[in-house]
Amino acid sequence: MGATALKDVINYMEQQENPHVPVMMDEVLGLLQPEPGGIYVDGTVGLGGHSAAIMERIQPGGLLIGLDRDKDSLAKAVQRLKRFSGSFRPVHDNFKNLPLTLKRMAVGSVDGVLIDMGVSSWQLLSPDRGFSFQSDAVLDMRMDRTQSRTAADIVNETPESELADIIYQYGEERFSRRIAAAIVNEREIAPFTRCAQLAGIISRVIPVRGRRIIHPATRTFQALRIAVNEELDGLEEFLLETAGLLKQRARLVAIAFHSLEDRIVKHAFRKLAGQCVCDMPPELCRCEKRVSAKILTSRPLMPGVEELAVNPRARSARLRAVEKI
Ligand SMILES: C[S@@+](CC[C@H](N)C(=O)[O-])C[C@H]1O[C@@H](n2cnc3c(N)ncnc32)[C@H](O)[C@@H]1O
Repeated sequence: MGATALKDVINYMEQQENPHVPVMMDEVLGLLQPEPGGIYVDGTVGLGGHSAAIMERIQPGGLLIGLDRDKDSLAKAVQRLKRFSGSFRPVHDNFKNLPLTLKRMAVGSVDGVLIDMGVSSWQLLSPDRGFSFQSDAVLDMRMDRTQSRTAADIVNETPESELADIIYQYGEERFSRRIAAAIVNEREIAPFTRCAQLAGIISRVIPVRGRRIIHPATRTFQALRIAVNEELDGLEEFLLETAGLLKQRARLVAIAFHSLEDRIVKHAFRKLAGQCVCDMPPELCRCEKRVSAKILTSRPLMPGVEELAVNPRARSARLRAVEKI
């Protein structure tokens, strides 16, 4: 998609009630190669941007199975895709349950799978979802609001050392211990209930010289979101298992938005390609090296300058893809 076409998409999205601009659309379609009559899976439908483009290409006779953990997003996507209703099957579930979903639908194998992880701009900006340190929403961060544990529960109930580990491991935040200590001090006075309250405490304890270009609460908020939604748990298993659901020459395309997620995708794809993942000298390597797919992206693809000029939120996207052999 050229810059002008992309600008048109963004103008369209901005006129809508809830904007989210799908990232790396050309790269997704180029790698997924949706064909008329094929069966595809969008594991992260969101507001249906990628799904709509896939639907256009799989007519006539195609089927798109679209999963999202967020019922509200899925409802919006269903509305957007209603002209394809017969060939779009929405499923409110975690994409990690894809094998079960396909089994229930009596679908044995598929022609391609896309996952575009993380949260959509709509979720991030929705005043009642609590994902953003820039809002004063209730501290929630659940993608699936039928789940009970929220970010406030983690912040108010997790022991200090465990909280510091979460912030360090999932946020790669070097001031994690200091932040966890400040949270524990503060919650003894009053429990955390709102995003702004937490962002304020973090801003107070991160030294000005330790601040990078990003907001001081960015890494802690990322860590809490990953913890609340257990985003990394079972991701590698999902990718390995999904390869077994692909038809020959079908493709699995994954877009990650932070390095932890991208590392898992890279690792899983190397395993599928039968490459070493242990970093040991060749004579000591005991990796299984069974080849079931070929890597199509030797390095992750990133959004081009044209896309970033019109959609700066795409800047952390990293896309990798494999083809079943
Ligand atoms: C970046 S958005 C996807 C946007 C979408 N591609 C579009 O064009 O509108 C990520 C979406 O994936 C959902 N999501 C994230 N992790 C998920 C998971 N493990 N299972 C199902 N949905 C997930 C989120 O709720 C969110 O709606």
